[in-house]
Amino acid sequence: MGRYSSHGGFKGLTVDPPPITLVELLDLTITDCTSDDFDHKMLLFLFFCLSTAAAVALLVRFVTAEGDFTLMSKRHVKRQEIEDKVVWITGASRGIGEILAKQLAALGAKLILSARNEAELQRVKNQLRGKYAPDQVKILRMDLASGEEVLSEAVEKAVSFFPDCGVDIMIHNAAFERLKTAALDVPEEDLKATFNINVLGTISLTRLLAPFMLKRGSGHFVVMSSAAGKTPAPGQAVYSASKFALNGYFHSLRSELCQKGIKVTVVCPGPIDTSTGATDSGAKGSLEKRLPTERCVELTIIAASHGLKEAWISYQPVLAVMYLVQYMPTIGFWLMDKVGKNRVEAAAKKRSAYSLSLLFGNKKAS
Ligand SMILES: NC(=O)c1ccc[n+]([C@@H]2O[C@H](COP(=O)([O-])OP(=O)(O)OC[C@H]3O[C@@H](n4cnc5c(N)ncnc54)[C@H](OP(=O)(O)O)[C@@H]3O)[C@@H](O)[C@H]2O)c1
Repeated sequence: MGRYSSHGGFKGLTVDPPPITLVELLDLTITDCTSDDFDHKMLLFLFFCLSTAAAVALLVRFVTAEGDFTLMSKRHVKRQEIEDKVVWITGASRGIGEILAKQLAALGAKLILSARNEAELQRVKNQLRGKYAPDQVKILRMDLASGEEVLSEAVEKAVSFFPDCGVDIMIHNAAFERLKTAALDVPEEDLKATFNINVLGTISLTRLLAPFMLKRGSGHFVVMSSAAGKTPAPGQAVYSASKFALNGYFHSLRSELCQKGIKVTVVCPGPIDTSTGATDSGAKGSLEKRLPTERCVELTIIAASHGLKEAWISYQPVLAVMYLVQYMPTIGFWLMDKVGKNRVEAAAKKRSAYSLSLLFGNKKAS
């Protein structure tokens, strides 16, 4: 038998030294160190461990997030910003608007519900429960495409429903149905309807209501935009254009009026599962992973009650695409160019329009 050499082997034999562990290495380094060196190395080691742990925690948080980092840091609704406030919701007859009505009623808001279908508004009203619901909930039938004169009458009614109160919060939630079609195939009538409802009607209503808010020195517009208002949305070009228009208008409006007491919160949801409500808004049977409407609404109310200027609400991968397009547009737009054609085809074949597999071509995009 050979003798073990201090150089890591037995005389006469070539043997690899036993592997040295991190603790042993640290111990060796420490024993060789002066006290200053030791402090320095220990600090570096601690810094390395903490940064790695923080990076891993951040990554896990991001992968499992339901919204942007600022929104996720606001954990609860500020109830005092909602209770006893008059909140006017458009598009309250189904989908996200219906759940907004439910949650806001439960938080003690005084509600005005608008949409075209009065019977559906009545159904929503009947099931509300809260400090002022269902009895004091007001129904205001309104077609956003009906022009300024009709909208002006609606505003007059809304501000006089609750004496001495006006409207504190206007939630612009109504929108024209989002059909997925290639940009060049959108019929003229859909193009006009999308802009008349999503953009022109919404802006007119704002122009008519804002003077009442300015007179009282306070008011809050909460705008249901979309992830499609932040990133390209192949297959939804016109819808996306209408939401980009809303974002531009309302962020500008806030810049003009914030010093006069007007707040604006632009909410940008990704795919939301609205199939769980009493009425299906079109997501039923969809293959993509969609955020439940209740959670989307809860996050919307959190964003509004904290006065956030913009909030993104979605699961991945939509959230990651939003971050990329916002902060690294060259990469974000390159990614969307890869996805574009596949997404239009997937939508036409009723396959998932939000899957990561859209990056890899038709066969895998299911
Ligand atoms: N669902 C999603 O995945 C998703 C994702 C991102 C953003 N969003 C946005 O979130 C909002 C709500 O979405 P949703 O899925 O709940 O929509 P939805 O189910 O299609 O409901 C749309 C609402 O708007 C009303 N409306 C439509 N046309 C109108 C008009 N001309 N005048 C007045 N009201 C009108 C509808 O009521 P009547 O038909 O009775 O008028 C209905 O209450 C929309 O702004 C949408 O763009 C939704």
